[in-house]
Amino acid sequence: MENINTEEIKSLIQKWKGKDGNLVMILHEIQNRYGYVPRPVSLEVSKETGIPLARIYEVITFYNYFELCPPAKHTISVCMGTACYLKGAPELLEEIETLLHVQEGQSTEDGQFHVNVVRCLGCCGLAPVVSIDGKIFGKVKKSEIMEILSRYTHEENNVKV
Ligand code: FES
Repeated sequence: MENINTEEIKSLIQKWKGKDGNLVMILHEIQNRYGYVPRPVSLEVSKETGIPLARIYEVITFYNYFELCPPAKHTISVCMGTACYLKGAPELLEEIETLLHVQEGQSTEDGQFHVNVVRCLGCCGLAPVVSIDGKIFGKVKKSEIMEILSRYTHEENNVKV
């Protein structure tokens, strides 16, 4: 958990006080600073501005841009475009979800991986395609998933797949 600097938050609120759309701007700056909007920060914003916490959460959940959880270290995108789908992408996703104990759209508990589904990564000739942090893996077989993931986990040396 990040250390919350209440002075920093107070000066952020001062900066946007009385300006149009100030809550969104405050939340934008918080998101840029932490990579997400931590709950203790939302509480602090609520306390300092008098805006109810429920209203702050309404705004956070309305815009896709805002995240409520810290970003994972690695982002896995499984392509479910037509070509990849037909060549077995659902099986790859299932294998990833099983190995990492997560569902699509979630991050692993240790914050190492986030699993996404995307529509066409633009290299259908390599279907089925999985990308990790933007690096493309093409013609992936289910049996290769563990080895691919372990390249990233070995880097960390503290995660088991
Ligand atoms: S459908 Fe997967 S890369 Fe195009």
